[in-house]
Amino acid sequence: MKDQAERLREIINDIKSSSEDNFLSDTQKRAGSRVITVTSGKGGVGKTNFTVNLGIKLAQLGLRVVIIDADLGLANVDVVMGKMTRHNLSDVINNNKDILDILEVGPSGVKFISGGSGVQALIKLNKTQLVDLLMKLGKLDEEADIVLIDTGAGLSDNVLSFVHAAREVILVTTPEPTAITDAYALIKTISSKDKNKNIKIVVNRVDNSAEAANILEKLNVVTEKFLGIKLQKLGYIMNDNSVSKAVKQQQPFVISFSKSEAARNMSDIASALVNNAEANVNSGSSFRMFINKLSNIFN
Ligand SMILES: Nc1ncnc2c1ncn2[C@@H]1O[C@H](COP(=O)(O)OP(=O)(O)OP(=O)(O)O)[C@@H](O)[C@H]1O
Ligand SMILES: [Mg+2]
Repeated sequence: MKDQAERLREIINDIKSSSEDNFLSDTQKRAGSRVITVTSGKGGVGKTNFTVNLGIKLAQLGLRVVIIDADLGLANVDVVMGKMTRHNLSDVINNNKDILDILEVGPSGVKFISGGSGVQALIKLNKTQLVDLLMKLGKLDEEADIVLIDTGAGLSDNVLSFVHAAREVILVTTPEPTAITDAYALIKTISSKDKNKNIKIVVNRVDNSAEAANILEKLNVVTEKFLGIKLQKLGYIMNDNSVSKAVKQQQPFVISFSKSEAARNMSDIASALVNNAEANVNSGSSFRMFINKLSNIFN
């Protein structure tokens, strides 16, 4: 593993010093898509359902949304979306497919890509393949106003690479003490590398808004006091039967239970995200920056 990582580092350095890295700086000059990584400390807190339903809500607000399923273990954006995918990133890497060929269209026009084994295959790429893949991924910048990346849980290198590479991170937790403790551990890891990372918190499966407010406040107090990090309170989602019913029906709950509390909460979160002015401060494409940073994945 170390050998491969070492090799990738050399390749990246080569790419950076060669003229081929111009494709990154060129498009960095114009505004492009906003990239947001969705993650959690503890597993099973609702990231995938959150990402898919948020994507649909954002699409319904008129934004062009691309969701990338970057969960190596249990990739299931397609399952929650209710649409099986024929291809994933490994087809782009191995079978010479274009990124646009593997882009699937879900409800309300939200687009998505399965990472599948392709994410893991990243470390085995040679220089030509890596440049090829990054250039292909770069095309998504034209396709999307917002790119949402659904990751697995926890502190694995792969998850952290996506977290560190993205300018904005949505951290999902539930009210359970274990989920909150794991969320704190993740915030600590993120902040040790980037004090200015924009971390937005969503509390999922709450009983009422007061419970959410209480958790958001407590988490913010400890992160400010011990880590010097100010979190952004993005919102909450009620613990709602409609979510698991929708999962069983393989239909996103904002579609099949559009009047449910959870669906209303998702609308609020989508609006909060769109109205979040901080994202518009920086002019360059955050997706291009993301790709550039991702190329340092094993640094
Ligand atoms: N707001 C909610 N109300 C009720 N149940 C929920 C809610 N959110 C999630 N769930 C339940 O939790 C399950 C797990 O959700 P999901 O698969 O989205 O979690 P995850 O964080 O992506 O998991 P993993 O870490 O394995 O990727 C769902 O199948 C659903 O049954
Ligand atoms: Mg998931």
